[in-house]
Amino acid sequence: MPLSQRSTLTQFLIEERRRFPSASGDFNALVLDVALACKAIARSVAFGALGDMLGNYVARTAAGEESGAASINVQGEEQKKLDVVSNEMFIRANEWGGHLAGMASEEMEEPYPIPPQYPRGKYLLVFDPLDGSSNIDVNVSVGSIFSILRAPQDTIDSGREITREDFLQPGAQQMAAGYALYGPTTMLVLTVGTGVHGFTLDPNLGEFKLTHHNIRVPADTQEFAINASNSRFWEAPVKRYVDECLAGRTGVRGKDFNMRWIASMVAEAHRILMRGGVFMYPRDTKDPGKPGRLRLLYEANPIAMIMEQAGGRASTGHAPVLAVRPKELHQRIPFIFGSRNEVERIERYHQEPSAYLDNNPLFAERSLFRD
Ligand code: AHG
Ligand code: MN
Ligand code: MN
Repeated sequence: MPLSQRSTLTQFLIEERRRFPSASGDFNALVLDVALACKAIARSVAFGALGDMLGNYVARTAAGEESGAASINVQGEEQKKLDVVSNEMFIRANEWGGHLAGMASEEMEEPYPIPPQYPRGKYLLVFDPLDGSSNIDVNVSVGSIFSILRAPQDTIDSGREITREDFLQPGAQQMAAGYALYGPTTMLVLTVGTGVHGFTLDPNLGEFKLTHHNIRVPADTQEFAINASNSRFWEAPVKRYVDECLAGRTGVRGKDFNMRWIASMVAEAHRILMRGGVFMYPRDTKDPGKPGRLRLLYEANPIAMIMEQAGGRASTGHAPVLAVRPKELHQRIPFIFGSRNEVERIERYHQEPSAYLDNNPLFAERSLFRD
């Protein structure tokens, strides 16, 4: 289709809204503000070393001097410069418009209330400003992930200040979710609960154009993604699944599998949306204090909504991610998503872990990943 005939993100949102004549337009305006933040981040990412954008963010002393040590976020992880810059871009693009009651981010310990000089709105925005940020310095794809929730009614009616608890909503209550991928092209992938649509940034116009209408995840796949360096910490169901994939044509699956690991979950999610696959960052025993690697509210929930809207599936191994009731803002969770039939198979393995170990004496002997 000629570029000029493709609809822009703005057009797409307006056409979607016509189906809800009573909608105020706040939601569309919010999505466009998020898209603007993503465009700004895309530019910063693209400048890389030229924009002095690589490397760690160096913490400053109270006097404002560089301390020399990398700044550590609430997750206990070193912050990259671009983590901090991207977080700032999300805040600046979204705080003023009057659509939000508050924001929460991977890079901020506490929720960000809307400053008093700006009007408040009826939505909450939760985001991972830059996912896969360990890849920045090696010029591999990174992205931003976001989730839009409704603010509790009393924050709207009485102007009550938002709290951490206001964000602890199950993923099934998300109004919309999406991500931007800063890869060879910049893309915005969005669901407002009516399927999943992909927009490619036209660098000439600075506009997102609809290029991938109603994306569907194939139900079957021969590709999986997992950080295999953690294999000795995996639980039995995951070991079993990966062993069976590795056994390929000669094993119970009767077909060969391919493996990928980018270490940018958002890039893996995009690959899976485009051609199928399964992604696993399961619970493991590496650090018993952490029930998973990825965070529920701004990584797992939005990607889970996108997967489910595209006909895929997202699970903790035991339950649908979207059904999990969050307990903490920065809660981690085991996360398995992608092609429906594979995710369901992994869930079945979680229901019968001991059956596999007890009935399969070969497991311990044959496992390529045995302890
Ligand atoms: P973030 O950069 O936002 O902290 O997230 C990184 C996440 C995710 O994108 C990726 O899948 C995973 O961490 C990589 O984990 P490993 O370092 O274990 O490969
Ligand atoms: Mn992340
Ligand atoms: Mn991040």
